[in-house]
Amino acid sequence: MATTTGRSCLQYLLHLAQDHLDFRLPEIKALLALRGKPFQPSENFKEKTPFWCLDGLSEEDVRSIMARSVCTKSAFELWGHGQTHSELRTSLLKYPSENMALEYLPFEGTVSLKSPQHIFCLLEDYGTDPNNIPEQPFYVYFGRWIADGQRELIRSHSVKNRHFIGNTSMDAALSFIMANHAKVKENDVVFDPFVGTGSLLVACSQFKAYVCGTDIDYNIIHGKGRSSRKNQKWRGPDENIRANLRQYGTEKMYLDVMLV
Ligand SMILES: C[S@@+](CC[C@H](N)C(=O)[O-])C[C@H]1O[C@@H](n2cnc3c(N)ncnc32)[C@H](O)[C@@H]1O
Repeated sequence: MATTTGRSCLQYLLHLAQDHLDFRLPEIKALLALRGKPFQPSENFKEKTPFWCLDGLSEEDVRSIMARSVCTKSAFELWGHGQTHSELRTSLLKYPSENMALEYLPFEGTVSLKSPQHIFCLLEDYGTDPNNIPEQPFYVYFGRWIADGQRELIRSHSVKNRHFIGNTSMDAALSFIMANHAKVKENDVVFDPFVGTGSLLVACSQFKAYVCGTDIDYNIIHGKGRSSRKNQKWRGPDENIRANLRQYGTEKMYLDVMLV
């Protein structure tokens, strides 16, 4: 079957992070749903492994998933795979040349390590048990790198460096995963009835939604009371949810928070 670009149906390989295992599938399904695409895993799909092969997607679909996913490390256009390097070689030789519709093939010319036009990766799957690593990989993949996921958001939005925090602040990774599960998108209005210090609102505002919330705790809503930080007795001025959004450049998405 040929696509409109003349390339046969492509398979894409997602390399997933091995944490929040139960939240990965709902995240990818939700991000695909935002594109109106179903989740179509290739044969022998195993949810708990770090490598998933997906069918029925375009490169644009994959790029849009990667622009949001915090559960995925990277995505590749899959060119070959196998249980051994020999099987991989056979699989690569069968890869349709029209899919390699790139003027540089068959890999002639100089290699630019500093600013490559394309990046090719060999990925080896040694399983998920760190105490039982086999001599040889269980499986090997070769593909063209497409994009990285948004794992960086976990570091850049860590509550450790957040302006306003409380004892119940939601961790950054989970906040972004929840925002993805909820398919939050540009111009949505998100209301968190148990808003706390607004971690969920921070994540949703990053995805360009307007955000608001309520909480039963006067001190949380007004940014007063005892600080949750070590070495600080009382919350300082401007320790509130609006300031958290300001910290990440999304203050314009802030609507308001109220005491209930
Ligand atoms: C786990 S925290 C919420 C975390 C928050 N959603 C975030 O993104 O970081 C739970 C919050 O619910 C609030 N809460 C508890 N009971 C409530 C109620 N009946 N109505 C509104 N807020 C309530 C608490 O004061 C607390 O701030």
